[in-house]
Amino acid sequence: MSSLAAGARSSAVWCSGKVFVLSSGSTSSLFVARFDMVKRILSDRTGLYAKVDPGPAILALLGMGLVFTEGEDWARHRRVVHPAFAMDKLKMMTGAMAACAAEVIRAWEARAASAAGGEVTVEVGEQFAELTADVISHTAFGSSYRQGKEVFLAQRELQVIAFTSIYNRSRVPGMRYAPTESNRRRWKLERKVRDTLMAVIDERLAAAKDAAGYGSDLLGLMLEANAGEDGKRLMSMDEIIDECKTFFFAGHETTSHLLTWAMFLLGTHPEWQQRLREEVLRECGDAEAPISADALSQLKQVTMVLYETLRLYGPVTLNARRATADAELCGVKVPKGTGLLIPYAILHRDEEVWGADAGEFNPLRFRDGVRRAAADPSALLSFSIGPRSCIGQDFAMLEAKATLALILRRFAFEVAPEYVHAPADFLTLQPLQGLPIVLKLLDPQERGI
Ligand code: HEM
Repeated sequence: MSSLAAGARSSAVWCSGKVFVLSSGSTSSLFVARFDMVKRILSDRTGLYAKVDPGPAILALLGMGLVFTEGEDWARHRRVVHPAFAMDKLKMMTGAMAACAAEVIRAWEARAASAAGGEVTVEVGEQFAELTADVISHTAFGSSYRQGKEVFLAQRELQVIAFTSIYNRSRVPGMRYAPTESNRRRWKLERKVRDTLMAVIDERLAAAKDAAGYGSDLLGLMLEANAGEDGKRLMSMDEIIDECKTFFFAGHETTSHLLTWAMFLLGTHPEWQQRLREEVLRECGDAEAPISADALSQLKQVTMVLYETLRLYGPVTLNARRATADAELCGVKVPKGTGLLIPYAILHRDEEVWGADAGEFNPLRFRDGVRRAAADPSALLSFSIGPRSCIGQDFAMLEAKATLALILRRFAFEVAPEYVHAPADFLTLQPLQGLPIVLKLLDPQERGI
C-alpha cells in the first residue's frame, strides 16, 4: 500500500500517474484524478471525507447554508430545502425563467433591428450575469422579487469585500473587527441583507396564518417544508436566511457561466447551432410561441450540448474534501487532516474513460443519456455526485434550456473576432475578457413564422 504520509514527510511531490501529493509548507494535499477514488470520496456518508473549512470571510458572507453544513445539521437542512427543487415545482417556475430571458432578448432584438444588417455585438457574459440574478430573485422570492434583487446586489458587494479581505487584511488577527471603511460598509450591508430577508419572511409567515399560504417560490416552498407536519419548525429563521443567501451564491454565477460557455461552443460550431435551432422550432414552436416546461423536456440535443459544455467548460473545475480520520483510499493510506483535491476539468478529459476524442466537442457522446456517455456511468462530475451533489441541477438545466431556446429562435450567432480565448478559474470558470458574440436577427421564415 502506498503511503501519503511518507511522501509528505520528505516534502517531495509523491507521484503515481493520476494521483499525487502536493506539499506546501506543513500541509499536504492529495490530488486525486482517478474515478474509483473520486467515487469513494464523494459518495461517503460516514463523515470520513468532509467539506473543507470555507474560512471566516466566506462563512460570514453565507452563514451555515446547505453548502457548508455537515452531519445531522446538513440532513435537516437538506430535508427542508429539497422539496423546493422537485421537478413539478420547478416546472411551475419555467414561466418566470422564460419571462426574464425574454426581456433580455427583446433588448438585443431592438439593438439588432436598429443596427446595419440586423447585426449587433453583445458581451453575453455580463448579460447572463444580470439574467441569472433576475431569475433567482424571481424564482426565490416571487412577488417579493424587488427585495430579493436588493439582497442580491448587497450580497454581490459583500462577496467582493470578502474575497478582497481573504487576500489581505483578514490574515491579520482581529482586523475583521476594526472599524475600517470596508468593515463599516460590510456591517451595513450585512444588516441590510438580514433585515430585508427577515421582513420578507415575516410577511410570508403572516400570509400563511391568514390561510394565503407561503407562496410557490423557493422561499415559500422552503417555509412550507420547514413548518413540518406537527407544526414544529425544523430550521430556525437565521438558518432560513442562510439558505436564501446560499441560493444566490451557489445558483447564480454557475448558471451564468454555463450559458456563456454554451454560447461559445455553439458560436464556434455552427452546424450544432443549426441542429439545435431546428429542434427548438420543432418542439417549442415559432419565435412567438410561449416556452413550456414540457416542450423543454423534449429538447434532447440542447440537453446533449449543455452536458458537453459542462464536461469541457464546467463552471466548477475543482472540488475538495478533507479526511477527518486516517483512511485507506483504494490502496493509498491517507492520514487524518489531508486535503483531497478533485480536478473535474482533468477527469472530464480522461481518454481512458471518455475515449480518444475526450478533448473534442462531441455532444453525440450523450445521445443515450448522461450515464452512457463514458466508460464510467458517473463520469460527468459537473454537479458532483453522491449525497452532496448539486440540489439545483434541474433548476440550472431548465433555466439554461429556456434561455438557449429563446435565443436560438431569434438569432444566428458567432463568436466575435475580438474574443480572446482565456478561460480563468475564479471560483468558477469564466472567460477572462468576457465573451463578445455577434448576433444576427433571423428573418421571419427562419424563425418559423
Ligand atoms: C450550472 C450550474 C451549477 C453547477 C455547475 C453547480 C455545481 C455544484 C457542485 C459541483 C456542487 C457540489 C459541491 C461539493 O460537492 O462540494 C453543488 C452543490 C450545491 N448547489 Fe449547485 N451548481 C449549479 C447550480 C445551482 C443552482 C441553480 C442552485 C440553487 C438555486 C445550486 C445550489 C446548490 C446547493 C445548495 C449545493 C449544496 C448541496 C449540498 O451540499 O447538499 N446550484 N453545485
